[in-house]
Amino acid sequence: MLQILSLTKRFGAMTAVDNLSFSVNSGEIVGLLGPNGAGKTTTIRCVASLLQPSSGTILLNGHNVADDPVAAKRTLAFVPEVPNPYEMLTVMEHLRFIAAAYRMEEDLVHAEEILTRLDLWDKRNDLGASLSKGMRQKLACACAFIHQAQVFCFDEPLIGLDPKGMRELKSMMMERRAQGNAILISTHMLDTAERLCDRVIILKKGQLIVQGTVSELKSQLMSSAESSLEDMFLELTEGTPAA
Ligand SMILES: Nc1ncnc2c1ncn2[C@@H]1O[C@H](COP(=O)(O)OP(=O)(O)OP(=O)(O)O)[C@@H](O)[C@H]1O
Ligand SMILES: [Mg+2]
Repeated sequence: MLQILSLTKRFGAMTAVDNLSFSVNSGEIVGLLGPNGAGKTTTIRCVASLLQPSSGTILLNGHNVADDPVAAKRTLAFVPEVPNPYEMLTVMEHLRFIAAAYRMEEDLVHAEEILTRLDLWDKRNDLGASLSKGMRQKLACACAFIHQAQVFCFDEPLIGLDPKGMRELKSMMMERRAQGNAILISTHMLDTAERLCDRVIILKKGQLIVQGTVSELKSQLMSSAESSLEDMFLELTEGTPAA
């Protein structure tokens, strides 16, 4: 579904993503973890065509993002690290705009359900400019869920959401997984990653240092079965002795 092959992204002399390869399969939620500056957002922005890779290939449902961007983007829903709604569009107009852009107007029948689940239905006629930070985050997620995407990329989607919003968003992701979609989520919330993700990928300085299911990684890397993903993460990324 999502394949990243030898992706490198340089900003001047700085290599933010360094020869990175991984894939996210149909029916999988994969967590992209790593310390601040590890290259998570840069990777996701390359997938969303917001950054041009220095080298490497990205395939979305078999379509090369560089050669066939329209077909590739049709399969993708992307929620950025800092959502920026259109100030002068209402919540509902955002969904109409996204549905029209994807030629998926018929999907608007799901608008009420999605907005209700994210506690935005009462705000449907409010302008983007008037939304709180968490509401902006929820609106970006609603826009991602309104069209028939097959690959979802969420860049720290849970930050700023209230507990009900977090639970609802995680449920929506799990439903999409059950429908066979591929979901990539960058997060610093390791306990959530441990519970939600089928696999995790840990980046450090733009390089993939380890990937696998949490239990695989624990059995390979940790001396104690009691160790948490947090222990493992700190061990791998900081060199802190594992519990
Ligand atoms: N537009 C840019 N110009 C120059 N350097 C950049 C740019 N965007 C990112 N970088 C650098 O690339 C590296 C990776 O940044 P990135 O935003 O991908 O990290 P991240 O893993 O998402 O971190 P965080 O957890 O803080 O969100 C950092 O060193 C950052 O300073
Ligand atoms: Mg980031």
